Amino acid sequence: MIEFPDSFLFGTATSSYQIEGDNVWSDWWYWAEKGKLPKAGKACNHWELYREDIELMASLDYLAYRFSVEWARIFPEEGKLNDSALERYQDIIDFLNKKGITPMLTIHHFTLPMWFALKGGFEKEENLKYWEEYVSVIAELKGVEFVATFNEPMVYVVAGYLMGMWPPFKKNPLRVGKVAVNIINAHAIAYEILHGKFKVGIVKNYQHFIPASDSKRDKEARDRVDYLFNWAFIDGIFYGSYESFMKKYKVNESDLDFIGINYYNIQKVKKSWNPLNPFIVEDADVSRKTDMGWSVYPKGIYEGIKAFSRYEKPMYITENGIATLDDEWRIEFIVQHLQYVHKAIKEGLDINGYFYWSFMDNYEWAEGFRPRFGLIEIDYETFERKPRRSAYIYGEIAKKKEISDELLEKYGLKEI
Ligand code: FCB
Repeated sequence: MIEFPDSFLFGTATSSYQIEGDNVWSDWWYWAEKGKLPKAGKACNHWELYREDIELMASLDYLAYRFSVEWARIFPEEGKLNDSALERYQDIIDFLNKKGITPMLTIHHFTLPMWFALKGGFEKEENLKYWEEYVSVIAELKGVEFVATFNEPMVYVVAGYLMGMWPPFKKNPLRVGKVAVNIINAHAIAYEILHGKFKVGIVKNYQHFIPASDSKRDKEARDRVDYLFNWAFIDGIFYGSYESFMKKYKVNESDLDFIGINYYNIQKVKKSWNPLNPFIVEDADVSRKTDMGWSVYPKGIYEGIKAFSRYEKPMYITENGIATLDDEWRIEFIVQHLQYVHKAIKEGLDINGYFYWSFMDNYEWAEGFRPRFGLIEIDYETFERKPRRSAYIYGEIAKKKEISDELLEKYGLKEI
């Protein structure tokens, strides 16, 4: 049996656009209408069924819930505040608290109001005044302990401005730096407004990279990609400097009360001969890939926590999960990753919670509804919620704050 501290938060995570439905004022909705992205439609219809969902979480003994608020709902048009949306988010928070579930709120989880996107979004520094207005409204919410300013800013920037896969579909390496810098400043603005009221942090994706071969070229390529993807952003906040973009900022290490780590998979890095595309990053070789095509590597969660401990901030695993229809694999995935989180705790690392992605199946961005990450299965026609076996097993772990010998025997790694 392995035991977790009493204060450890076992929760689940979602984001607004992926579950709420009808986020018609968002950029993702706009581009889906144009045929560039899968349509989200009613998604899980959480906007109407949120009470039922929270009841379900409580009945499963989940202790914390990470969710995001949709900027485009709160400000559907420039300068036009939608009070009823704000009231609904307050009701979500109140209901969570009433059920004894700790809320963690994310302010930006990939989507933007279309009007803000049309003005150039985070590409333009002068647009940060709209962000400031939005964040000031978030500051009015009551009953929240944790607020994350941005979800995976590096993923947002790379997918939207380098690979051109997500809105605004640009492939412009020069723009990447500019957007990243503006987001660092946006974080600083939010921190100033919100700190004191909430614990304010940022959620960073940690990708576990290995070199594709033993060659010096590949090892150096791995280190470079590791720096750019995993560390450049938080270094920017923490040290107030941004090595890769050669700039100085007003932000500094006091701008983080906690760090959220999202961890999913392991990738290999190869140096290419093409100077315009110097690194080839691919999913590492494993016997079985998830329905996202990702390679599972439980030890990576421990390596990530250890590496992030360099910032000496309280840490939370804000996302970790698997897209699969094989629920036995999901149980194994959870148990094995938690074994490594436990190892980190035992070694004295400041890791305080784990949020499984996702509470329920949902709209997985450019992949649409196909990948199933949920502990709860969603029927997208009837919106029926059906807890999978993994949902109950995770609830048992959350309630007892321990993983039983029986679970370890059946699903666990024998040696870690
Ligand atoms: C993360 C995102 C989250 C979800 C998972 C699978 O990168 O933060 O919204 O899509 O991946």
